Amino acid sequence: MRRIVAVLGAVALTASLAACGGGDKKTDTGADGTTPPADDGGKKVGVVTWWSAGSEKDGLAALENVFKEQNPDITFENQAVSGGSGSNAKQKLQTDLAAKNPPDTYQAHAGAELSSDIEAGYLEDVSNLYDEFNLRNAFPATLLDRLTVDGKIYSVPSNVHRGNVVWVSPAALEKAGLDPKTPPANLDAWIADMEKLKAAGVEYPITVGADWTQLQLLETVLISDLGAEGYNGLFSGTTQWDSADVTKALEHFSKIMSFTDPGLYQEDWEPAMKSIINNDGKVAYNVMGDWAPAAFKAAEKKWSQDFYTWPVPGNEGVFDFLADSFTLPVGAKNIDGAKAWLKTISSVEGQIAFNVIKGSIPARSDLTPEQIAEFSEYQQDAMKSFGNDTIVSSIAHGAAVSIASSEAMKQAISKFTSGGATDIATLQKELVDAATK
Ligand code: GAL
Repeated sequence: MRRIVAVLGAVALTASLAACGGGDKKTDTGADGTTPPADDGGKKVGVVTWWSAGSEKDGLAALENVFKEQNPDITFENQAVSGGSGSNAKQKLQTDLAAKNPPDTYQAHAGAELSSDIEAGYLEDVSNLYDEFNLRNAFPATLLDRLTVDGKIYSVPSNVHRGNVVWVSPAALEKAGLDPKTPPANLDAWIADMEKLKAAGVEYPITVGADWTQLQLLETVLISDLGAEGYNGLFSGTTQWDSADVTKALEHFSKIMSFTDPGLYQEDWEPAMKSIINNDGKVAYNVMGDWAPAAFKAAEKKWSQDFYTWPVPGNEGVFDFLADSFTLPVGAKNIDGAKAWLKTISSVEGQIAFNVIKGSIPARSDLTPEQIAEFSEYQQDAMKSFGNDTIVSSIAHGAAVSIASSEAMKQAISKFTSGGATDIATLQKELVDAATK
């Protein structure tokens, strides 16, 4: 049987290579190996994302469906690379872009993250597509500002996420007699609650996963201790990374890390917050972006019943912003296909289909009340916050700093946390260096 399968596989592979002319195609199947080889006549569009699992994969599938409806003649090729926040995808992209082997389009974040790709000449200016697709008034100014570099725009956003959310397990808080509906007033009060939880037998009051989730937690602590203006100053140069206020934030971060489970430090975001999703009472808190609601939904858990959310204590009224945004690389093989993808992701239909499932809010701000009603209660609340709150840019998700900077910060944090999370002076020194990259 195995032999027959192997022979059939070899025949199929030969046929597909012949159909493709055995030539320049990057892959003949989807990145997950499940998409059948296609004789696309040059109409295959390769899309790199890191949406390869769980709710993120489902969101991408919803977008793919709209793309197929809108473009029946183009084959969507899923080139997703697993790893939350693009931890692996970004590395592979840098290698491929440097080797002049770009995908047709790739996921990135709106903001500083693309600066090095723009400087290296990897990206086409897509400003003209904003006119062609009528997008200039579709997106809020706060987003367009973050997308514009020297008057040009190099990507098209599909969604907006909020990064400074605490996901709360009521079963754990109950053990310590804490009310899951009422957030602590500030970081010190939150830390005091973590002490109570620990004393009540909750072994790990808070969890974090891999380095990028730790950096995301740290950015929210910085927002609390510096305030929105002070935090923004870290990127404009008016707040110094070696200042006493940053030291204070790192002390808070060190204390919070002491309540976490080191056994999860290599995990992606979803496994790291599994206890909260299951509401099994073993963990009380996790700080994560609002791609998490879809994971709760998949587990049939209800907001304000099986889990609660609050802004990280001290972050009230501040929206820690990030947006996924797609590009048109210089040298893309299927330029028309990539443009068709950019058109779908920015269309009202694409933004609704994708975001309803992904948990994010549409990047477009021109949806009708009927269209908004299609979103969950949590998402409608997030839309209001995005309209009313002070917006700050996420460090961990590419909005605030370059890739080189965030990578160096992740390394510094990883060293700090794996060494017991106590050497604050070294961490601060390494963050000062990382910020200059
Ligand atoms: C972010 C991305 C989100 C989500 C998250 C976790 O960087 O913007 O859409 O994918 O990573 O993987």
